[in-house]
Amino acid sequence: MRRDSTVMKPVQLLPENRSPPAACGNLTDDECRSFQQEVLSFYQVHGRHDMCWRHTTDPYQIVVSELMLQQTQVERVSIKFPRFIARFPDFATLAAAPLHEILTIWQGMGYNRRALYLKRCAEIVTHDHHGVLPADVEALVTLPGIGRATASSIAAFAFNMPVVFIETNIRRVYIHHFFPERETITDNEILPLVAQTLYRKNPRVWYWALMDWGAALKKTITNPNRRSAHYTRQAPFAGSDREIRGRIVRQLVTGAGMNEDELLVYLKEDAGRVGEILATLEREGLVVREGTHLYLP
Ligand code: ADE
Repeated sequence: MRRDSTVMKPVQLLPENRSPPAACGNLTDDECRSFQQEVLSFYQVHGRHDMCWRHTTDPYQIVVSELMLQQTQVERVSIKFPRFIARFPDFATLAAAPLHEILTIWQGMGYNRRALYLKRCAEIVTHDHHGVLPADVEALVTLPGIGRATASSIAAFAFNMPVVFIETNIRRVYIHHFFPERETITDNEILPLVAQTLYRKNPRVWYWALMDWGAALKKTITNPNRRSAHYTRQAPFAGSDREIRGRIVRQLVTGAGMNEDELLVYLKEDAGRVGEILATLEREGLVVREGTHLYLP
């Protein structure tokens, strides 16, 4: 027999006597079940069961809540969401409402563009889908302001679909639990684990539980997401274009509009900078200009 080690030796991917690390997505059934048990037990005891958007499966209300929760803290959304739903109870009402009315209720949430996206979503659902939200992630991602994570959240929470996705709280849980020692973790490494551990009996409850555990971890340990390859710190708000955008919209929301020169006096910011921000707001459809008069549609 030839004893040519380069031919005879089996390719060794792992050191001997070591099972594959969990990071491979090759969890045993026991590991998988034990993780599910841990997440669901946490949820039973510490879950945020009182969030009002969790007491409905109305697809419209789920869309509103998920867009709100994209960039605004739960405490703030808890106040705005019921008011928003009371004033705009369904897709048709929101589609028909003037943007300035929607923005009036939206004030305090930040990122006003989401209010415009919501209105545009409502118009598309009302006019192109007979008022019925498609129960399909690929259709949902085509709607304005809805990326894959939001589309998947909507599919899970409105339709209890067994979708596989990552958002910030979910990422935190998987990094904390499955990658305690690793410095840099990509979402491509996490996704197989999300797929394998998905509690298929009830995806809705499963993702609530993951989000709640992820939110709790943020309060108790150094943010595991700092070790994510996709981690970015949010730029400071003070002095940012975002702050000026917000001030412009807030000013225009309170009245019938404003002359550009008056707005400049009020803002006390560089005219060139404000001009560029206004041009962006106009392009996006958040602000309308007639000559030098500016107003919200
Ligand atoms: N419950 C339902 N959706 C949520 C979200 N996006 N963030 C936190 N809790 C939620």
